[in-house]
Amino acid sequence: MTRPGLHTLTGGRGLLFGGDYNPEQWPEHVWAEDAELMRAAGVNLVTVGVFSWARIEPEPGARDFAWLDRVLDLMDESGIAVDLATPTASPPPWLGHRRPETLPVDESGHRLWYGSRNQFCPSSPVYREHALALVEDLAARYAGHPALALWHVGNEYGQVCHCDESAEAFRTWLKARYGDLDALNEAWGTTFWSQRYGDWAEVVTPRRAPYIINPSQQLDWRRFCSDALLDHFRAERDLLRRHTPDIPVTTNFMGLFKPVDAWSWAREEDVVSNDHYPDPADPLAPARTALTHDLMRGLAGGGPWLLMEQAASAVNWRPHNPPKPPGRLRLESLQAVARGADGLCYFQWRASRFGAERFHSAMLPHAGPDTRLHAEIRAHGRELRELARVAGRPVPARVAMVFDWPSWWALEERGRPSDRLNAVEQLFSYYLPFWERGVTVDLVPPSADLTGYALVVVPNLFLVSDADAGAMTAYVHGGGVLVVGPFSGIVDPRAHVRTGRFPAPLRAVLGASGEEWQPVEGPVRCRWAGGAEFDAHTWTELVAAEGAETVAAFAGDGRPAVLRHRAGEGVAWYVATMPEPDALGELAERALADAGVDGILPEPRHGVEAVRRGEILFLLNHGTETVRVPLPRPATDLLTGSAADGHVVLAPRAVAALVEPSPQTPPPGDDIEITL
Ligand code: GLA
Repeated sequence: MTRPGLHTLTGGRGLLFGGDYNPEQWPEHVWAEDAELMRAAGVNLVTVGVFSWARIEPEPGARDFAWLDRVLDLMDESGIAVDLATPTASPPPWLGHRRPETLPVDESGHRLWYGSRNQFCPSSPVYREHALALVEDLAARYAGHPALALWHVGNEYGQVCHCDESAEAFRTWLKARYGDLDALNEAWGTTFWSQRYGDWAEVVTPRRAPYIINPSQQLDWRRFCSDALLDHFRAERDLLRRHTPDIPVTTNFMGLFKPVDAWSWAREEDVVSNDHYPDPADPLAPARTALTHDLMRGLAGGGPWLLMEQAASAVNWRPHNPPKPPGRLRLESLQAVARGADGLCYFQWRASRFGAERFHSAMLPHAGPDTRLHAEIRAHGRELRELARVAGRPVPARVAMVFDWPSWWALEERGRPSDRLNAVEQLFSYYLPFWERGVTVDLVPPSADLTGYALVVVPNLFLVSDADAGAMTAYVHGGGVLVVGPFSGIVDPRAHVRTGRFPAPLRAVLGASGEEWQPVEGPVRCRWAGGAEFDAHTWTELVAAEGAETVAAFAGDGRPAVLRHRAGEGVAWYVATMPEPDALGELAERALADAGVDGILPEPRHGVEAVRRGEILFLLNHGTETVRVPLPRPATDLLTGSAADGHVVLAPRAVAALVEPSPQTPPPGDDIEITL
């Protein structure tokens, strides 16, 4: 059976627009006003019930659905679809009070209490029993309700617990993975520091210990934590599917969030959705956001995804929270559309009066509808209707970037050559030059089929399996271009160092190998073969060419810093240091030239993001200056209806959605048809 997906929502609605709606915080007379204002703003999807467990089940076993019936009926009457949440992210106080074993325990053995949210142990059978009983009744109640369009399981999964029940569940998971204790001892290398386990009962979670904890144990613990949460997600999902096989199921990710291996989770849901809150103090936030959106598209298998939460203006959880200036809300939302989002939702619809998030912005601020912010929301909702035709369109990419959670986990354990290596920063430093040049990048897992890409970049893959290293090698031999960053291919899936010259499993394809890692303080001068110089930082390696040409060398002793190797039909690059951004730009250009890939714009402009979705070329000015952007072909801006011949002028925070007339495309106007 084909599973329902985002298309089942966007089919009749076009792009989705809305937010978290928490009517339980308001008297009912406010709900009618909400519905009216939502309609006026073009809202067509709301997420309801995320934190409503205590309202639905005020005491154990009780059910109060009457209020929720009225909310869903009201939404239906208003033509607004509902993304109904299972309210299991925040159990009511009665559960923790009566059954404290459902509360999570931190690595020091301290129980975390109610009074906030997320206070549950993922491995607690009692928590699960209560959660599933509620989900079962919720699903039975609303199966067939005309407003129900999507299920939202829990909220931002990431809880970790070190209680005895979690330790027991960890042991069960380990038994399934290793079979017996001998295999566990082998995998964890427990001959080191006298850590041998003689009885399963001795095996516990990596609780607070006097010194560095076994890295293989830590790695398995992280795998287990992600799997334990996923197991709970699946249990809820299966109940929902039993009642409503035609309603898609999602849970909201948090981008590059360490606790959950999003690649393994995404396979289990029908719709990929994400919560994203760019840091207004970070000048590189637009590029980081683009990276996160590209990851979501990758998780969705290249298809559309849903921006489940963003802020209409300020958040309240950073130490200092300036509002978004006029136009940024629109710019950020359209950036997500350009990168494959079919839905643009906010946390939340109406600003709360009380509770921990009373100073978080919302689509409808405390000051009411007659405000600058709400006017922007309305205008944005209107405009999204003009873009309805974008829904479902693909975002083509010829470049892939590999990112992996277990490798991230393994890389960032204590006790390594430098704590300054950071998997996400390494990924971002390689992503940035492609973003600046208008080259669209797909994020993929190491096990992905790489054959459709002209260029594959591996910024860091500290942990790599033999199979994945073999596939990368075959990719190059078959004509692909591969770029590998430093400290890759170092450990196997157990986090054991692969002995021999590094990176052992990629040595042959890279035509180079190393013998020593040499982290550095301060910049290190490097020189391209042509003579130009650049700085590198943090990390160098003592590497020898074994068939590769030295493209850049360390200026001090002339040993290789960047190598390029022809292998089979393709080319493999190895970067044995961390070049400064301009040098990474140079490297990206050379690798793109090898791969025959061009950027979208004839001349990229600083701060202007360029990305194609379907036949639409999106240009987004994230900079502070008005820019004139030359265009590859004459086009019409879908947002303004105006023609752009040769160039387009973009004020700060302006966006153009350009349709280039082609022989198949009729002239601009309401009847524009975009063909794929
Ligand atoms: C997260 C949560 C929401 C809310 C917002 C605030 O994304 O899912 O419930 O707390 O953050 O930014």
